[in-house]
Amino acid sequence: MEKFDVVIIGSGPGGYVAAIRAGQLGLKTAIVEKDKELGGTCLNVGCIPSKALLTSTDHFMFAKKEAEKHGIVIENAHVDLNKMQQRKDKVVKTMNSGVRSLMKTNKVTTFEGLGTITAPGKVSVKSADGKTQEIETKNIIIATGSVAVELPFAKFDGKTIVSSTEALTFTELPKKFLVIGAGAIGLELGSVWNRLGSEVTILEVLPRIALGFDLELSNLLQRSLTGQGIRFHLETKVSAVKIDNGRVTATATKGNEELKFEADKVLVSVGRKPFSEGLGAEKIGVEFDEKKRIKVDKHFKTKVDGIYAIGDVIAGPMLAHKAEDEGIACVERIAGKDGHINYDAIAGIIYTNPELAGVGLTEDQAKEKGNDYRVGKFPFRANGRAVANEDLDGMVKFVAEAKTDRILGAHILQHAASELIAEAVSVIEFGGSSEDLARTCHSHPTLSEAVKEAAMNVEKRALHIINR
Ligand code: NAI
Repeated sequence: MEKFDVVIIGSGPGGYVAAIRAGQLGLKTAIVEKDKELGGTCLNVGCIPSKALLTSTDHFMFAKKEAEKHGIVIENAHVDLNKMQQRKDKVVKTMNSGVRSLMKTNKVTTFEGLGTITAPGKVSVKSADGKTQEIETKNIIIATGSVAVELPFAKFDGKTIVSSTEALTFTELPKKFLVIGAGAIGLELGSVWNRLGSEVTILEVLPRIALGFDLELSNLLQRSLTGQGIRFHLETKVSAVKIDNGRVTATATKGNEELKFEADKVLVSVGRKPFSEGLGAEKIGVEFDEKKRIKVDKHFKTKVDGIYAIGDVIAGPMLAHKAEDEGIACVERIAGKDGHINYDAIAGIIYTNPELAGVGLTEDQAKEKGNDYRVGKFPFRANGRAVANEDLDGMVKFVAEAKTDRILGAHILQHAASELIAEAVSVIEFGGSSEDLARTCHSHPTLSEAVKEAAMNVEKRALHIINR
């Protein structure tokens, strides 16, 4: 029997990146994946296909609503949904084969089948044809990810009551599309179908959208999305979902009022939960917390020697880049190196238009923690490049410690916020101050000048602004 140094269960961004790093460090590595393709949720039914559709539909919006302002005449701009879906599938396939090549390049052995830990150092892989293989290894990394949470009264049927997986694959436009939950998934997929012409209604139990992001910017995002035609019902708790003749009726309460919503399809996007079914980890002493997440120490080691866990299956934000960095740090520890993660420097992003991005503390979190802080803001409508682009929505906002000026949090609402936030992440990683950023020369004309100006405005000295 072949013996490995590391066997990784799950080939999402956490697992496959851990495998690459292990290969780079000369560890004899294997990866076990139950699905046909490598890449996990993110690559196959999450981040990548959703971004493919968001980009396509953003182009459609440009053709339909913006092009004319630029003097570009597009007559009868319309969508071929099948072609749009085919392009998305091609993007996913390209990424699938990329990951497969990366496994080869880094000499990682791939096993296709459901991995079960039968004992420390032993993984059994059951393939679709029922055959079982046993693998021996010094270390096991569990990177099995997460699955969508179901509502007890609205079980997924894959057709009418759907999760994000199916909401990425419609080949017919739902006339009315209901979304339960105004988090990243609800807002992104609500945007896709709204742009394509569905009547989209989003129901959210909280009094705000995009929980976890800065409230001021989340409210501005809600205003933009409302302007694009999405209807929001906040403080609205769904209590029943009925399907009759293929149509949805959802019952919800808002204060003392009972509301009914009819739709062709309903997306339930109320969160995700860790996935560890069939893994057998509990039988060999791996511990779980109250949310069924695997308990690990700060170096990702479970209670059992030689067994580690990373990504969505442990505590922390369910983000691909968090899982990737945990995979790297975990493997480096196994190899006797000093891998670590700064959880204060992990950005969250919602890829709507405008995009909402945030890293570190929001203003409310700084207040709650009793931090003495200062805020610097800058609106994109005062940024030359944003004016040239006619992308005026949004702003940059910094939260900096009053005494030291260290940046505690950065928040950006802008069409390109997902790219712009990276600068703030770097400065936070290096423990930088708003002055560090304010004194850094930013190229002109760029959107990133708004980042510099917001940093300058922590000291109320932004240049291109009338009301500070
Ligand atoms: P979420 O946890 O981000 O948001 C769920 C929302 O549903 C919350 O606002 C919650 O208050 C609301 N909700 C819960 N029960 C409800 C009910 N009965 N009625 C009405 N509203 C209800 O979950 P989401 O959007 O499903 O995403 C799951 C995970 O995947 C998150 O951790 C998210 O960060 C991650 N993700 C990240 C993406 C990104 O980085 N762009 C994209 C997609 C997912």
